[in-house]
Parts: sequence; structure tokens; C-alpha cells
Amino acid sequence: MVNPVATGHPLRYSRSARLLHWLTVVLVLTTIPAGLVMVQEGLSRPLQDTLFLYHKNIGPIILILVVLRLAVRLITPPPPLPESVPAPQARIARAVHWLLYALLVTLAISGTVRVQAGGFPMELWDPLLGGMIGKDEALAKSASGVHDRAKTVLILLIAVHVGAAALHGLVKRDGVFRRMWPPV
Ligand code: HEM
Ligand code: HEM
Repeated sequence: MVNPVATGHPLRYSRSARLLHWLTVVLVLTTIPAGLVMVQEGLSRPLQDTLFLYHKNIGPIILILVVLRLAVRLITPPPPLPESVPAPQARIARAVHWLLYALLVTLAISGTVRVQAGGFPMELWDPLLGGMIGKDEALAKSASGVHDRAKTVLILLIAVHVGAAALHGLVKRDGVFRRMWPPV
């Protein structure tokens, strides 16, 4: 068999891994601005309610996508990186990827705890998750602190990740971007 790495045509992530990656991107890149805007002062009530509704209800879907991605990853592990990527760079990429997963899980859990301990509803998810945590202002406050710090790190790491993807896809054109493209 021709070695796709040696021929300069690195393999792609599996179709399901790519589809799940890009679905996550759409949901995360809408959930973050919704979160940032919904906490601003002076918003109209209907706009604020809509943003909160979207933000709170999409979070658990992102968590489910992460779990599915990790399962797909176990079944079809990522293809090897092209040899042109130096080992230290590959190690950094791997660390960033695992941190991204960890931050999404942290955000979904801390968000859920913050809302339930604050005594607020989670609409769509209440039949499944409602009543898991009773009202507890101190817990709500610390979950909110975790959520806030995790979101800052997530935004920074997404900037690093997208910067690296753009560098590979637009400047180096070494096939790394195509590993995750197209989405289907
Ligand atoms: C991966 C999923 C999530 C991401 C990326 C995310 C991101 C964010 C961001 C960027 C903010 C704005 C923070 C600020 O500027 O003050 C925020 C706030 C907030 N998020 Fe999330 N979030 C996620 C999941 C959730 C979930 C599942 C819930 C609840 C069910 C939730 C509830 C909240 C609440 C209530 C706030 C307002 C700030 C506070 O009261 O602590 N989030 N989130
Ligand atoms: C919302 C933000 C994003 C998150 C949370 C995210 C997360 C991830 C994760 C966790 C992986 C590793 C997959 C694995 O091996 O399990 C990955 C790979 C990848 N992502 Fe993203 N991603 C995001 C946005 C983007 C964007 C906007 C682009 C392109 C502009 C992109 C391009 C890629 C590429 C090319 C890979 C494959 C890299 C490689 O195999 O070395 N990602 N992403």
C-alpha cells in the first residue's frame, strides 16, 4: 500500500470525527458570543432572555458532542501528522486539543451547576437534569467563577488553535488543515 504520509498526502480524520468537529465549532462559536452579550447591561429583556435560553440549552449539547468525539477517537484514532511537523510542535498541538476538550467539559458542568444552584431553570434539559442540585448561593458563586475563568482560557486557546490551523492551511499548505476538512 502507498504510504500517504510519505507521499505528502496525510490521511484525514474519519468522516464522523470531522462532522463532529465542525458541529462543535458552530455551536461553540455561537455559544461564546451569546454568553458575552447576554451579561451586558441595558439589553432589552426579550433579547437577553433569548440569549440566555440559547446559551443554557446549547451547553449540554456541546458536552454530548465532546463525549461522542472521544468515543469516535477511541474507535478511529487520529491519523499520524505529516513528518514535516516537528515533534515539539506536535506535542503542543496535542496538549491544546486535550485542553480544549477539558475546557468544554468544565464549561458545560460549571454552567449547569451555576444555573441550578442559582435556582434557575434549564428549560429543555429540566426533565433530565432538573433538581440535581438544590439552591445554594455559595456554590452558584464559585461555579460562576470557574465558568468565567474557563471561558477566558477557552477563548485564548481557540485563538491559538485557529491561528495554527490558518498557518497550516494558508501559509504552509502542508496538508494539516485538510486532515479536518471537509466537514462531511
Ligand atoms: C461549552 C459550553 C459553554 C461555553 C463555551 C460557555 C461560555 C460562556 C461565556 C463566554 C460566558 C460569558 C461570561 C462573562 O462574560 O461574564 C458565559 C456566561 C454564562 N454561562 Fe456559559 N458557557 C457554556 C455552557 C453553559 C451552560 C451549560 C450553562 C447553563 C446551563 C451556562 C450558563 C451561563 C451563565 C448563567 C452565564 C452568565 C454568567 C454567570 O452568571 O456566571 N453556560 N458562558
Ligand atoms: C470552536 C472552536 C474549536 C474547537 C473547540 C476545536 C477543537 C479541536 C480539537 C479538540 C481537535 C483535536 C481532534 C482530536 O484529535 O481529537 C481539533 C483539531 C483540528 N481543528 Fe479544531 N476546534 C475549533 C475550531 C477550529 C477552527 C475554526 C478550525 C479551522 C479554521 C479548526 C481546525 C482544526 C484542524 C485542522 C484540526 C486537525 C489538527 C491536527 O490533526 O493536527 N478548528 N480541533
